[in-house]
Amino acid sequence: MVASIISTLFFALVTWSGAASGTDNRKTTDVTWDKYSLSIIGKPLLCCLARITRKCVLSGPTDYNNVGGAVDIDAVFYDGCESSLSIEFAAVYSKNDIGSHITMLGIYMTFGGTNWGHVAALVCASYGYTTMLRETGEARDKMKQTKFIGLFACISTDLFKTEMEGNGTSYTGNNKIFTWVLRNPDTDAGFYAMAPEDTSTRATAKFALNLKTSYGQISIPDVQLDGRQSKIILTDYQFGNSTFLYSSAEVASYANLDVDVLVPCLTEESSPSRTLGSSDLTISSSGKNGLSYLCTQGECIAAVKFSSSPLIYLLDKHTAWNFFAPPTTSNPPVAPNEHISVIGPCLVRNAYVQGDSVEIVGGDQNHAP
Ligand SMILES: *[C@@H]1O[C@H](CO)[C@@H](O)[C@H](O)[C@H]1NC(C)=O
Ligand SMILES: *[C@@H]1O[C@H](CO)[C@@H](O)[C@H](O)[C@H]1NC(C)=O
Repeated sequence: MVASIISTLFFALVTWSGAASGTDNRKTTDVTWDKYSLSIIGKPLLCCLARITRKCVLSGPTDYNNVGGAVDIDAVFYDGCESSLSIEFAAVYSKNDIGSHITMLGIYMTFGGTNWGHVAALVCASYGYTTMLRETGEARDKMKQTKFIGLFACISTDLFKTEMEGNGTSYTGNNKIFTWVLRNPDTDAGFYAMAPEDTSTRATAKFALNLKTSYGQISIPDVQLDGRQSKIILTDYQFGNSTFLYSSAEVASYANLDVDVLVPCLTEESSPSRTLGSSDLTISSSGKNGLSYLCTQGECIAAVKFSSSPLIYLLDKHTAWNFFAPPTTSNPPVAPNEHISVIGPCLVRNAYVQGDSVEIVGGDQNHAP
């Protein structure tokens, strides 16, 4: 049965309305970190006791200190929960949601709005405590991680309609890695969402991942997960008029401009990433599956231009954190020719083209958006 779905993450201010905002049918204890565990097997996401005893008041039904925001009401400053922020959580949680076929996610809170120091109930009413975007305008690393999911999910039209082809620990050469495979029945695009089976592990795992592609089975070596990390590896992924067979680097976004522009990014500190493209690409060794490219990415932005069309911007992890794709339209969803690629360093709010220049509107940690 084909599920027709829209993968959209809400990054706007979404008010939580009592019922669980999401359920997950993966394993009994899906996310277990040092300080808490979260059981999300087909049940509402529940408050975790560890947080309550620490007097961190959760702004929602789950551990929103890590997903949304939380406040420590015993502290002089209400940022007391900040020390337990775990930025990896944002990526692992969201990618697990995509793997589990969750198609809509409301995050409360994402932006710390203000009532300028007034008190509401017990606390100074700020939504800035441990949210992704503080009241001050500071974009936490948590936002940079979460932003990826939004960029990727909004632009990946192949993800809007997928079936769960399978899941389990047999897709890699390492049975400690759990993989979900989602496949678009129309385009055969594959989404391999992987995370350690034991989500509390900090051990780095390197393994080969077995992919089903339009060129048959392909095994890519040296996929790496740095402990609390999750990755989505793509096959037969269409970006504009181009398609790649697989990429071992995750994709942040793409654009369809006068050329197709792909923005893959490294999500671990450094490791080689490989991209295997269709035969209209021009360089590198040619194997039985077409042309393969191996790029070793340093701490920088690299641009690779293929003679046919695609232009590929390779970003290292920290550059990618500051990558934004502000839309030039106010209509969601954003088409691939309706956004502008911008590298921070500040929070980029908006961008538009005016005459010959691109106007970029941003903010930094001292200027509220
Ligand atoms: C694995 O796939 C099966 C079959 O589609 C599905 O019923 C099950 O819920 C999936 N398990 C997880 C953990 O997503
Ligand atoms: C994509 O294909 C369409 C239709 O053939 C064409 O009009 C457009 O110019 C192409 N875009 C790129 C970036 O190649």
